[in-house]
Amino acid sequence: MRLTIIGTGYVGLVAAVCFAKLGHLVTAVDREPIIQDLRAHKLAIWEPNLQEMLETCLHEDRLSFDTDVVHAAKDADALMIAVGTPTGENGRSDLSQVDNVISQLKLADVICPPFIIMKSTVPVGTCDELEADLHAAGLHTEIVFNPEFLRQGSAINDFMNPDRIVIGCRSHLAKAALQQLYRGIPAPIQVCDRRSAELIKYASNAFLAMKISFANMIADLCEGYGADNRQVMQGVGADRRIGSHFLQAGIGYGGSCFSKDLQSLLSSGKAIGRTLPLLEATAQINEERIPQLVEKLISLWGNPRGKRLAVLGISFKPHTNDMRDAPFLTLLRLCYLYGIEVQTYDPVVQLNTFDNVSQMETAYEAAAGAHAMIIMTEWPQFAELDWVSMVGGMSQPILLDGRNVLSDEVVSRLMAVDNVIYIPVGRPMKQAALTLERDISTL
Ligand code: UDX
Repeated sequence: MRLTIIGTGYVGLVAAVCFAKLGHLVTAVDREPIIQDLRAHKLAIWEPNLQEMLETCLHEDRLSFDTDVVHAAKDADALMIAVGTPTGENGRSDLSQVDNVISQLKLADVICPPFIIMKSTVPVGTCDELEADLHAAGLHTEIVFNPEFLRQGSAINDFMNPDRIVIGCRSHLAKAALQQLYRGIPAPIQVCDRRSAELIKYASNAFLAMKISFANMIADLCEGYGADNRQVMQGVGADRRIGSHFLQAGIGYGGSCFSKDLQSLLSSGKAIGRTLPLLEATAQINEERIPQLVEKLISLWGNPRGKRLAVLGISFKPHTNDMRDAPFLTLLRLCYLYGIEVQTYDPVVQLNTFDNVSQMETAYEAAAGAHAMIIMTEWPQFAELDWVSMVGGMSQPILLDGRNVLSDEVVSRLMAVDNVIYIPVGRPMKQAALTLERDISTL
């Protein structure tokens, strides 16, 4: 099929290379500077395998770029919209980028492709409204809602091996076209009405966010009662009705989707006079995670002003350089407020300059002279660092393990180092005794 994709952000670009890999002829459309970079094989996002796949698709002439929506749409069998729908006023989704594409199609006097596939996450009822708008303008196309469930860091694998493909459409023709588009992907296809498909996307993300906030709530109880959250969630998640995924307690969820989609769903509820207390609590628990951590630090430090905090990993999760809604940004704001200096190390993110932040080349450099260190993302290599020498370089060896990265073995080695305080999530903190106390206890 000839597929034109509008938007080369995370979703659009991953979809473009994956559909090209499936054998379709794909044209990806975006603004001039972005397309210039893509033509030069320069990617703004860091995603495993994306660079290699992009180069292969370009080399095999399955993928091309354009900057003109109407020109690229003209001969396409389907047009896919994958532009951003960020949070707008009062938590509602800002649909201006989607509206902009629709307006361009309406203004141009061309034959619109028979199908417009909406990949962007849009509130329930949006596709109905847009389609009615297009029909009123004389463009007889069908809008299909086809949500994405890609996780950053494993987006290509998620695209090629999804748990399900959801197609919200009105006609058999649209269903057949989408089935052809996804031919070669081994996943069950759920065909349903558009409004249900739109809600599937929001409800899925809301449920995942709710699981994380639930795990974080139980983690607080574990800390209070001396239980181990990892054990608790292993036992809970072993029940197949619950499932073991997304029960890892930590610093809270970040990223471009969960918060935004939760806000949008809450505002959709409000629009029809429904409150959604489960989702309000989910968001509130998440918002409290970073302030709680900072309070823990301040209770150990006393006066925070002038303290230096080392931060390992600053993107919202490992294997990505995406900083959107990263919990680190909340931490940074609080540090700024309290006069805490920040020294970061991240394997892939290049930060722009911030007043109170120094970005270091290694984790050890970030630790040097710090009065505490916090692990914010669970990059696998962090577990392999030499933690004893890391704390050796710190001014005050306080370790806040925001993702429970360190193994019990590493922690017990750290407990042999004077004064080390280890603060995991969902388990009581551990404090090493002073050498003198250890000597006396072995007498
Ligand atoms: C999410 C959805 O998973 C995906 O289906 C949707 O299309 C886009 O949003 P993504 O934001 O890439 O994907 O990341 P995800 O792996 O879901 O993690 C989101 C956040 O939750 C991260 O900050 C992560 O660290 C956190 N998280 C995840 C936890 O704190 N605990 C967990 O158990 C799982």
